[in-house]
Amino acid sequence: MIGNPVAHSKSPWIHARFAEQTGERIDYEHLLAPVDGFDEAARAFISAGGRGLNVTVPFKLAAYRFANAHSTRAAAAGAVNTLKVDADGSILGDNTDGIGLVNDIERNLHVRLAGKRVLLLGAGGAARGVALPLLEAGVRELVIVNRTASKAVDLAAAMTALQVAGSEIPNLDADASAETEADAGAGAGAGGDAIPGAHVHTGTIVGGGAEVATGAFDVVINATAGSLGGELPSFDPEALTPDTLAYDMMYAAHPTVFMQLAQARGARAADGLGMLVEQAAESFHIWRGVRPDSASVLAELRAMLARQQAALPAQAAVTATTATASPAP
Ligand code: ATR
Repeated sequence: MIGNPVAHSKSPWIHARFAEQTGERIDYEHLLAPVDGFDEAARAFISAGGRGLNVTVPFKLAAYRFANAHSTRAAAAGAVNTLKVDADGSILGDNTDGIGLVNDIERNLHVRLAGKRVLLLGAGGAARGVALPLLEAGVRELVIVNRTASKAVDLAAAMTALQVAGSEIPNLDADASAETEADAGAGAGAGGDAIPGAHVHTGTIVGGGAEVATGAFDVVINATAGSLGGELPSFDPEALTPDTLAYDMMYAAHPTVFMQLAQARGARAADGLGMLVEQAAESFHIWRGVRPDSASVLAELRAMLARQQAALPAQAAVTATTATASPAP
């Protein structure tokens, strides 16, 4: 797991559990790289025999550029969180964040996405990383709402373009090449890349400000960075009903403001811890060809975090972190 910072990452613990379960022999550790030193650190790791990397903030865009080839979902996300070094030395860039979200919703929370009306809050890297996998899961309608409405409009247009197999991802960020490493993971680096084999999806996609999301939704996903600062993205609360799954891609010791609003409206609320474990499971599968039992690891991780939380003084217990394209894997 390469990042900066990276010491807080739970991924080594998660992958150690997966390895125990499956009998795979892996050695998975943190790798702290200087913010301007991704390529050098990754090259040294591979020269020393490294076969795979998970990538977190601020390197997801650098990892995208570093890879020789990209999966469809990485190209659509414009960011890479998983690198696989093949026997011939070629480096595949993949992105397991979106499928991690989909698998958590469908397998752990038992909500089928096919045919559903889904509201996606946010249009940054985290939202971009999950938009295509949600559509591929068969959602009927994907409404993307963002504080800066134009970014949601652009993301909706980019995902609509993927309704034609093999089409190009429009460039969402003309300044992507000038982006600083600190902004990496903010998506949008895939401008103009052909997306080989992009799946055809049939969902209706709408993007804009809060006004484009009217009525009730089956699933509302908070992919904004708001929860970190205790801020609620603006959207019509009528979206949340007792039949709604409200999913915050962040996880924190206590329910986020978004989760609290959902609960107050009688909706079911979930945090992003399951997404963290599921994206790890997908990476493990990419590297080892074996699928671990993620549900039992998620249960163990949640219990462990609850124990740690109970042992902390109250003041230290409020730190929030994210399970998404951003900080925390
Ligand atoms: P990430 O990689 O976590 O997605 P990002 O690419 O910087 O980070 O995107 C952050 C997202 O959270 C954006 O959609 C941002 O909205 P803007 O595009 O208008 O900036 C959203 N966001 C951040 N703070 C927010 C807040 N307090 N309320 C609503 N949306 C917020």
